[in-house]
Amino acid sequence: MTELLFNPFDPAFRADPYPFYDVLREKAPVYLSPFETVVLSRYEDVAVTLRSNDFSRDIEKNANEPSSAVQNRKRTREHRRSEGGGKSILNLDPPDHTRLRRLVSLAFTPSSIERLRPRVQQLVDDVLDIGADRGSMELIDELAFPVPFRVISDLLAMPTERSVELREWSQHLTASLEPTADDDDLDRAEAALDHFIPYLIGIIEDRRQHLGDDLLSALIQVEESGDRMTTQELIAFVLLLYVAGHETTVNLIGNGMLALLRNRDQLTLLRDDPGLDGVAVDELLRYDGPVQLTVRVPVVPVAFGEIRVESGTVVMTLLGAANRDPAMFTDPHALRLDRTNANRHLAFAAGVHYCLGASLAKLEAQVAIGSVIRRFPNVDLAGEPGWRDRLTIRGVARLPLSL
Ligand code: HEM
Repeated sequence: MTELLFNPFDPAFRADPYPFYDVLREKAPVYLSPFETVVLSRYEDVAVTLRSNDFSRDIEKNANEPSSAVQNRKRTREHRRSEGGGKSILNLDPPDHTRLRRLVSLAFTPSSIERLRPRVQQLVDDVLDIGADRGSMELIDELAFPVPFRVISDLLAMPTERSVELREWSQHLTASLEPTADDDDLDRAEAALDHFIPYLIGIIEDRRQHLGDDLLSALIQVEESGDRMTTQELIAFVLLLYVAGHETTVNLIGNGMLALLRNRDQLTLLRDDPGLDGVAVDELLRYDGPVQLTVRVPVVPVAFGEIRVESGTVVMTLLGAANRDPAMFTDPHALRLDRTNANRHLAFAAGVHYCLGASLAKLEAQVAIGSVIRRFPNVDLAGEPGWRDRLTIRGVARLPLSL
C-alpha cells in the first residue's frame, strides 16, 4: 500500500501538523490524496492557486460529486438556504464576489480599522486590570475570545447577552469545515444554523426600523449605483463576520502568545520594542496561523509542473505548510521577529478572497499581545496549554498564565 502522506484523521497530525507538512512537501508536493483531493504544500503552488482565475471558491457548484468534503458542504449549504441564508462572499466567484466585496470593503480599510484602536485598548486594559488583581488569567476565555467578540458586536451594534450561545453555534459551524467532519458534526452545524439564522433575521428586521450609525445599518442601506445586498446576502455576511470574529482572531492571540512564551528571547525583544508590534504579528501568523487550509476547484484543467489536475477536482491549499516552506522562508521552523519577509505569509490567503478582516485581526492581536507582555514582563505559562483538536482552524483552547 502506498504511504498515506496527508491524514487529518491521525491525532498526531492534528496535534502538530508541521513535521507532517515537511514530509509531504518533500515527497509529494502535489499529492493526490485518497480523500479525492489534490493537496498542495509548497508556497509557490499555494500562492499561484489562490491568485489564479482558473480556480473557483464555489466548491458546491464546480466540484465533482463524489468527494465527501463536497457532499458535506452541499448538505450544510442546502440547510442554510432553507433557513433563509444565502451564499457568503467567501463562497462566490467574480463577478458576484466583486460586487459584494465592494459593498462591504469600505468598513474594513486599514484607516477605518485604525480608528478602533482606542476602543480595543480599553477593552484589553479592563480585562488586564482584573488579571492584575488576581495575578493570573486564562488568556483564551478572559481575553482572546471576549475582546474580538465585543469589537465585532460593537461594529455591527449587536447585542452581547447571548455570547455563550453564539460562541457555541460558531464552533459548531466551523467544526463542519474540518476534513474529518462526520454526520454528527453536520447535524450540530445544522442545529446551530436553526438558531443562528432566525436570531440574525430578528436583529436585521428590528434594525431596518431603527437604523443607526453601525455597520449593519450601513449594509442595510448600502446603495451603490442602485446596488443593494439582499436579505440572504446580508445574513450570510453577518454570519461569516461573526464566525470569523469568534474562531480566528482568538487563535491568533492564543497561538501567538504561546509561541512567544516558548521563545522567550523573541518575547523579550518584542516587549522592549513596541516598534516591532506589526512585524511580530505577521511572524506569528506565519509561524502558527489560525487557518491551516482552504480549498479551491479548477474550472479548467490545470498543471503543477508535470502533474495535471482535471477541472472539478477539489484542491486543498495548505496555508500552514506554505508558511513553513524553506524555499520561501529561511529557517522556517524558527520564530524570528527579525525576518524581513514575514509579511509574505499566506495566513490570510491571497487573491480576491484575501481576508477582509486582516487589518482588524492584526490590530486586535497587536494590542492584546503587546499589552500583556509589557504590563506583565514576567508573564509565564501556569499550566499545560490545551489544544482544540482541529486542523482547518487550529488553536489553543486554554492558556493559563501567571502574571
Ligand atoms: C487572525 C485572524 C484571521 C485569519 C487567520 C483569517 C483568515 C482568513 C482566510 C484564510 C480567508 C480566505 C479563505 C479563502 O480564501 O478560502 C479569510 C477570508 C475572510 N475573512 Fe478572515 N481571518 C481572520 C480574521 C477575520 C476577521 C476578524 C474578520 C471580520 C471581522 C474576517 C473576515 C473575513 C471575510 C469576510 C472573509 C471573506 C473574504 C472574501 O471572500 O472576499 N476574518 N480569512
